Parts: sequence; structure tokens; C-alpha cells
Amino acid sequence: TILIQENATGFCRADGTIDNDHSGYTGPGFANTPNTAGASIEWSVNIITAGTYRLEWRFANGGANARPGSILLNGNAVGTASFDPSGGWATWTTAGANITLTAGVHRIRLQATTGEGLANIDSLALTGANASAANCA
Ligand code: GCU
Ligand code: CA
Ligand code: CA
Repeated sequence: TILIQENATGFCRADGTIDNDHSGYTGPGFANTPNTAGASIEWSVNIITAGTYRLEWRFANGGANARPGSILLNGNAVGTASFDPSGGWATWTTAGANITLTAGVHRIRLQATTGEGLANIDSLALTGANASAANCA
């Protein structure tokens, strides 16, 4: 498993800010996107062995509603993840999806589908045969 934090190789960009005002996050903080549909965060990974990989985001959603996101791979929608209310902004849990990845460097984008934006996103973990975090092109 590779785990990508905000200040590390593989973290490319986020709409909004990297915040640290709710306890329990890991690394330097968490990505707080604006409350708008289309708000997104991007990562870059290098897949050495093609196959099914699991994407898992650690998140907090202190709002009342789920904040689902589309998963885009190099700009193409490949799945969704639901970020259900976690019980508070300092209460962290995980959500994710399994996706098929070919070998090579891929840009992964998580993009809010509702006007509430994304949950606060603490990290992305990628589990599968053989991958590494990649420089953002
Ligand atoms: C609050 C909270 C933020 C969160 C935001 C939201 O302002 O402090 O961390 O991102 O709500 O609703 O998205
Ligand atoms: Ca937010
Ligand atoms: Ca983090």
C-alpha cells in the first residue's frame, strides 16, 4: 500500500486549502475543497503491474449529507465513492473503490458531484500489486 499525504510526491493539486483546524488528521493536514460541484483533488501514481487496485480515502464529513465524488482516471470517469457523514469534522473514517489500472503513470482525480463539495480528505491509499507515487506531470 502506498499512502499519499498533502506535501508528498503523488499529491498534485486541490481546489480550496490544506487545513489543519480539525484534530485527528495525519501528515501536514487535509484538503478542504469549496462547497461546489466539480471541486476536485488530484494525485499521480505509477502502476508497474496492471490489475485491480483499491483506492481508499481517509476523510471526515461533519455535514448532514453524503458528499459523493466521481473518480476520474486521466480525465475519464471510472467510478464513484460515497463520503457519508462521519459524525463530526474531527471524526475520520475511510471510503473508496476498486478500479482497474493499466501500467504507466496515471492522474487520479476525485471530483465532487454535489454542491456541498467533497468531505475533508486526509489521505489517499492505493493498494494493489505494484505501484508507487509519481511526479505530477
Ligand atoms: C466547516 C469545516 C470545514 C469543512 C466545511 C464544509 O467549515 O470547518 O473543515 O470543509 O465545513 O462544509 O465543507
Ligand atoms: Ca469543505
Ligand atoms: Ca493528511
